[in-house]
Amino acid sequence: MKMDNKLNEIVIPLLTWYRIYRRDLPWRHDPTPYRVWVSEIMLQQTRVDPVIPYYLRFMEILPDVEALAAISEDALMKLWEGLGYYSRARNLQKAAKQIVENGAFPADFNGWRSLPGIGDYTAGAICSIAMGLPTPAVDGNVLRVLSRILGSYEDIAAPATKKAFTEALREVYPLGATSEFTQSLMELGAIICLPNGAPLCEKCPLKELCTAKKEDLIDQIPVKSEKKKRKKEEKTVFILRFGSKIALNRRPEKGLLANLWEFPNINGHLSQKDALDHFAAADPLSITRLSESFHIFTHIEWHMQAYEIVARYPSEEYIWMELDDVLLQKAIPSAFRCYTNYLKESRYKEIQE
Ligand code: ADE
Repeated sequence: MKMDNKLNEIVIPLLTWYRIYRRDLPWRHDPTPYRVWVSEIMLQQTRVDPVIPYYLRFMEILPDVEALAAISEDALMKLWEGLGYYSRARNLQKAAKQIVENGAFPADFNGWRSLPGIGDYTAGAICSIAMGLPTPAVDGNVLRVLSRILGSYEDIAAPATKKAFTEALREVYPLGATSEFTQSLMELGAIICLPNGAPLCEKCPLKELCTAKKEDLIDQIPVKSEKKKRKKEEKTVFILRFGSKIALNRRPEKGLLANLWEFPNINGHLSQKDALDHFAAADPLSITRLSESFHIFTHIEWHMQAYEIVARYPSEEYIWMELDDVLLQKAIPSAFRCYTNYLKESRYKEIQE
């Protein structure tokens, strides 16, 4: 890939633009390693707007790495409830425990990179944003920006492309402004150099320098090879009631949504009759079909149908909890949000009556 270093030319216009147009985001105030680290983990696979309230609450309850290391897993999962990709929170805590044990935050890129849940991007972001080190943080947004500026047809899904862009960026990092430079690249990708042929080129501080803009290649760049198709899984979810109690199940310790709480469910779509047969031992008093819903994970999608079943006998297979306790204490993954909302509404109606 030919990149001489045309990237030298982007530094000043990008920093100037960033100083004027940057969004006021909570993690940009007081960017300590802890605050930047938590923000970058929350922002993985998740948009800025939904992250903000989670981030503010997290910082209020866990203002430092010692507090994060000490919180119970259940309370941590509750704080993360709804953000998804829960292994992010578990890794955050694992890393926090290591940091507390070591008595200090890592001093450089390799130190951060060796902690659980921290890859090249996150280590680069923390070191450049919070520690003044010239370490690029190259994510999908930055790959798109750089591909367009350079007019590169290299596949941005290929590790070699990321490596080449990272090295080219490293050469031009402005030593006194590493924090702003990293964030300016992210910011340009987030609010100007938008994906899918919709960039706001007229507002771009780099439009005079951008090869894709000048050569009318915005629709063709970046090039990204197709990901593997997601696997579709059908599920039947059961909202099982016994008096004022609801049945919950703990997921296995390994794999998708490890260790989190869920409503009982089985693979496949069951007819109403099959669902009743499945719970014959509970001697159901009633069964109601609920809305269908679906949830997309990185590699799998769940297509869910659901039944609410009022049981005469509580099966010992499940944990039975008061609905209020379920809603207040248990971290139930967003995949089940449709059914958690249904329960919240039913609880609200009960209070009104
Ligand atoms: N996306 C990833 N990191 C970000 C940051 N620090 N600010 C805004 N958006 C981001």
